[in-house]
Amino acid sequence: MLIAWKETIHPAWEKTIVPGEFIQVEIMVKDSGNFRETGGWGFARWKGLALKPYGTDASFVHECFSCHQPVKNKDYVFTDPSQLPK
Ligand code: HEC
Repeated sequence: MLIAWKETIHPAWEKTIVPGEFIQVEIMVKDSGNFRETGGWGFARWKGLALKPYGTDASFVHECFSCHQPVKNKDYVFTDPSQLPK
């Protein structure tokens, strides 16, 4: 899942980037039996505070999938798990 906010400078400290206006929520769901054309991943996006579903038909997933190609060797996922103190 990805929750995106507009990147905003903290008013009291200009080197601090904080979440500003909400942009969208995105999810990727792995189901190799279903989403064969897109590497076994289903994609969805909801835009704005109204959470308007993205895309006029199911073809929008090709836009998602093509942009995730640079991380094909990581099963199309950009984000690595965060490191936590032990
Ligand atoms: C312009 C290129 C681009 C497009 C188009 C795109 N993505 Fe991504 N996506 C990224 C990048 C880069 C990241 C990592 C961003 C970050 O960590 O801030 C990402 C991260 C994600 C993540 C978090 C998991 C991960 O891979 O790190 C999800 C979920 C996601 N995208 C879903 C979608 C969906 C759904 C669509 C289509 C509606 C989509 N993306 C279209 C580039 C793209």
